[in-house]
Formats: sequence, structure tokens, C-alpha cells
Amino acid sequence: MDDGAGTPGPTSIAVFLDEQAEPLSTYRPPATFQLDTTKLEDGDHVLRVRATDAMGNVGQRRIPFTVSNGPGITVTGIRAGSSVHGILDINLNAFSGEEPFDPERAESHAPIPVWTWVMCAMVAAWALWYGLEFFQTPAEFANTPTYAANPALAAAAEPASGSVALHGPTFSGKGAVAGFDYEASGTSAYAANCMSCHGAGGAGVAGTFPALVGDPVVTDSNPRQQIITLLKGLQGKAIAGKSFAAAMPSFSELSDQDIAAIVDHERTSWGNHAPIITPGDVKRVR
Ligand code: HEC
Repeated sequence: MDDGAGTPGPTSIAVFLDEQAEPLSTYRPPATFQLDTTKLEDGDHVLRVRATDAMGNVGQRRIPFTVSNGPGITVTGIRAGSSVHGILDINLNAFSGEEPFDPERAESHAPIPVWTWVMCAMVAAWALWYGLEFFQTPAEFANTPTYAANPALAAAAEPASGSVALHGPTFSGKGAVAGFDYEASGTSAYAANCMSCHGAGGAGVAGTFPALVGDPVVTDSNPRQQIITLLKGLQGKAIAGKSFAAAMPSFSELSDQDIAAIVDHERTSWGNHAPIITPGDVKRVR
């Protein structure tokens, strides 16, 4: 079969464009040639290479390619192969390398991807959670001056005047209440007045001095009996089924501040978690 090349020699290569019957040119291998795509219409083309050897055997290669010398085109709003319905908003843009830069047209419109919305929602949710965190005072700070100075908390901490039962603030923990810093003075006042009998750890001395750890009077949410014990002393009371030969002395000479601080120290130390009191509570009982 004659490909029309007519070139003599053992092997010849003919180059065809698209479905043209006549070759662009014929070469002897190896060969180099230039394809001027500006002469071609933009779109799909095929380069066909056909080699024929001396025996007349023919080998063929087809290389499909796309020419795009014209302006670039972007289309958003419809995608190849998508199924659509109703009215579509389609954005078109076209630009070529020779055109001057135009910021208005530099970027084509594109819909905001779903993952962007998901990220925004997550950031918003995190911000909401973070904001709400600010309204919850962490337990370890609940009794610090910063938070306890809150007038609403202070009002809650003050028992209604004339009420019989005393109630400390509903929260408990180390630190201060309503501006009253009991922990600093409570630790030292306890060490000075109580530690010799009840021990640094509030464990007392078995059979001689009662433990304050877990003591029902110390951990009672109503602090009245505990305040009375400090003001008046105590003798002859069986505690946890045990009587004590020694007596608990009166500490009425201590200030309201010191007694309140000691009471709060007992209520919040060694594992005790009882509501704490203010000097005002001591004054009412005195
Ligand atoms: C001299 C030793 C001694 C000292 C000092 C002392 N106590 Fe006592 N305390 C006792 C004894 C003894 C008892 C038990 C009395 C009884 O039941 O007969 C007691 C009882 C108590 C109770 C009553 C527990 C209950 O269940 O009723 C409390 C509370 C208490 N002491 C706290 C204190 C605090 C606070 C201090 C320091 C301000 C202190 N004590 C100082 C010896 C002492």
C-alpha cells in the first residue's frame, strides 16, 4: 500500500493531521519537525504518524491533542455532565494573554464551596462555646475576690436578716468570700489556737481530742453549732460515740474575723467541703 510519501530508503515516516489523506510531510527517521498550531483552529485535533519499512509493513500512531490559542474561557454555574433543572445562573469569562490586566475580570466568579461553610460553622460554634465559658466561673476561682465581689454573689452569701438558721454561701472552696479572704488568716489562726490539740491535719488525737475531718458539726451546712463551740467551748459531748476527758476551751476573745476564718479553714481543709461563712455570721451568733 502506498501512502503517497514516495520517499526512498529502508523506512519512512509520514505525518498526517486529522483525517487528511495527504501527509503534511515525509521524513527519514530520526526526524524533527515543527507544528504551527496558530494555523489550526482551536479545538480537538489528531496527529497521525505512519511508518513504513522496506518490506512494506506499516506502523501507525494516533496522538489526539487540543489546540487553544484563543482566549481562555471559564464557565461557572454548570458543569460538564451535570443534570440540571429550573433556571441557572451561569457566569462566563474569557481572557487572552494579550489583553491588559483588568482586576474586574481577573478572577472568575465561583460558588463558595461547601467545606468553606462547614469551616465557618465550626469556627462560629467554637466562638460560641468559648464565649459561654466566660460565664462559668471555674470551681477553683469561684471564691476569689474577683468573682466573689460580684454583688449578686455577695447578696446570695448574706443570710436574710432575722432568719434563724444560718446558711453560708452555697459554694465552698479555698480562698475568699464576698471580699473576705479567710484562707490567709484562717491557716495561721488555726495553727496558733487549735493545732496543738486537733493537729495540723485536723485528725485530732485518738481518744483525747476529736478529729475535725468529716466531723458532723464542722461539715454541717448550718454553721451555728460550730460557731457556738468556738465562742463557748465544749465539754462532756460524746462525738462519734466517744467521750473526751479534756475540755474544748472558749475562744470568745478572738475577733469575728478570726473565728470566721478558722471556721472556713476547717470547712475547706483536709477533704472537708462545707459552705463557708463570713464574720457577719459570727457576729449574729455572738
Ligand atoms: C486544749 C485542746 C483544744 C484546743 C486548743 C482546741 N480544741 Fe477543739 N476540742 C477539744 C476537745 C477535747 C473537744 C471535745 C469536747 C467534748 O466533746 O467534750 C473539742 C471539740 C471541738 C469541736 C466540736 C466537734 C463536734 O463534733 O462537736 C470543734 C468544732 C473544735 N473542737 C474545733 C476547735 C477549733 C477550731 C479550735 C481552735 C480555735 C479548737 N477546737 C481548739 C480540744 C481542743
